[in-house]
Amino acid sequence: MKSLKGKNALITGSSRGIGQQIALGLAKLGCNVIVHGRTPESCNKTIELLKEYPVKVYVVYGELSEELQVNQLISQAMNLKLNIDILYNNAGIMTPYHQDYWNHTWDEWMLTCKVNIFAMYSLCGAFIPAMIKNGFGRVINVTSGIKDQPELAPYGASKWAVNKLTDDIAAKLENTGVRINTLDPGWLRTDLGGPNADHAVEAVLPGALAPALIADDGPNGHFFSAIDHQLKLDE
Ligand SMILES: NC(=O)c1ccc[n+]([C@@H]2O[C@H](COP(=O)([O-])OP(=O)(O)OC[C@H]3O[C@@H](n4cnc5c(N)ncnc54)[C@H](OP(=O)(O)O)[C@@H]3O)[C@@H](O)[C@H]2O)c1
Repeated sequence: MKSLKGKNALITGSSRGIGQQIALGLAKLGCNVIVHGRTPESCNKTIELLKEYPVKVYVVYGELSEELQVNQLISQAMNLKLNIDILYNNAGIMTPYHQDYWNHTWDEWMLTCKVNIFAMYSLCGAFIPAMIKNGFGRVINVTSGIKDQPELAPYGASKWAVNKLTDDIAAKLENTGVRINTLDPGWLRTDLGGPNADHAVEAVLPGALAPALIADDGPNGHFFSAIDHQLKLDE
């Protein structure tokens, strides 16, 4: 396992939910954390929780459905003058469930694609070239195990696109120190997952850390499951 002590991790959507858990998990491993939410204020709770760990904590913010704000978020992160060693593309949205699955509007499709795919693409493009130059990088794109649910068609299709984008970028990173993989967190009780989900949000750890801890010649373009991996780690 790779030591992450002193590395810098940008985790999108770490103001709450799964991203917040990942931020705490990485900080516990000694990793400095760049917290992200839509506003600086939305990150306050995570910053408070991170005080427990002797790591550096930074904040960036921005609405991921707006190209301008995504670019501003990237500038904020670059202005920190740090190597972004780990990019955890976690932020995501799910537009409403439609029992009549022909009712998804183009606005819902577009919003979902902007946040879940386009922003991820821009963030990868902003940070992966420097990771290649530095000889080290871990990129984790959060996907979902959702299937056979056209009632959530924009969300399901966007996560398929996340998998595809990850695979295609992985092919370009084979002989570099950068690894890009997907993580399915499992169905967790968060604002997005809802109160009836199978697991508490804390169950995403430690499995969600596995794709950050892989060796330089470790899996690339691989699908990780936080819940299943956790079982293996606990053995
Ligand atoms: N929960 C599940 O069961 C489950 C299952 C499979 C996959 N996932 C995936 O896991 C990831 C995290 O989900 P979650 O359940 O933790 O969600 P969540 O509790 O709703 O948290 C979403 C996070 O993303 C940020 N965010 C939301 N919309 C945004 C936007 N338009 N622009 C910028 N940031 C935005 C939020 O920031 P603010 O606090 O500022 O709003 C928050 O930090 C998502 O990619 C989701 O698809 C979740």
